[in-house]
Amino acid sequence: MIYVQVPFLGRPVCISRRTIIARFWKTVRLISPGAYPKNQTPGTAHWLFEKENTYGGIQKGVRTRVASSIDHHTFEKNRGGDRMNPRYHAYAPFYERHLQRFVSMEVVLAEVGILRGNGLAIWSDLFPNGRILGFDIDTSHAQDNEPFLKSVGAFSNDNVELHTFDQLSSDAEYLEPVLQNTKINILIDDGLHSPESIIRTFHAFKPYLADDFVYIIEDNPNALTCLGKDIDGYASERVDEISAVFPPEQEGLFS
Ligand SMILES: C[S@@+](CC[C@H](N)C(=O)[O-])C[C@H]1O[C@@H](n2cnc3c(N)ncnc32)[C@H](O)[C@@H]1O
Repeated sequence: MIYVQVPFLGRPVCISRRTIIARFWKTVRLISPGAYPKNQTPGTAHWLFEKENTYGGIQKGVRTRVASSIDHHTFEKNRGGDRMNPRYHAYAPFYERHLQRFVSMEVVLAEVGILRGNGLAIWSDLFPNGRILGFDIDTSHAQDNEPFLKSVGAFSNDNVELHTFDQLSSDAEYLEPVLQNTKINILIDDGLHSPESIIRTFHAFKPYLADDFVYIIEDNPNALTCLGKDIDGYASERVDEISAVFPPEQEGLFS
């Protein structure tokens, strides 16, 4: 631990070495946008970032219209389209690493927390032969944004479906009519980000995961700890606020 004197607080603040290093790299990313090496190959960090921009880039201040009745933490406004951008979450290299082995396959990808559908548009282009499932407690923002996304070239593969799903109350049984025998290769949880929502969503989707899968959880540095024993026997990787769970056979790919 390191003590830093903060002038306006009038007292020293205790901060860990790890936090200082994480903040340092975040600052470096903030002042050096476009830091991904140029590469037009589908699925590379550069390609993912460019796609995010094509589909509108950062989506700020999207008002919450529907929230779970048992949710006490819902934000009044949501932000999306910020996962690849090096100025914001800078998750593109993480996605490149974990999605690479699925590119050109007929995957099933599910995204939980879709907001205006910007992510779905990227996934649809990356997996033109795949099935892309969007889940959200409120799919209306994505529906409203569909004409814009189509006008800039999205959804030409016609492989995207929208479904209503409440991370705090829906379970595996609720998913049965939608998923039936479907096996999901890629799951992305970008919804509420609370420990409860992360755990419940994992329980709901676990029976539908394919033998080879990657389960990505965004925006919570403690996601793997929250899942605890639920992910015993699986391999995992965390970088700052994004984590992935995958079968142990794939562990060698990321070490
Ligand atoms: C951060 S936004 C998603 C951003 C989107 N993935 C993107 O890349 O643009 C979070 C989303 O979670 C949804 N959400 C909030 N509470 C939820 C719940 N209880 N169940 C399912 N989705 C929820 C919100 O409606 C919102 O669309």
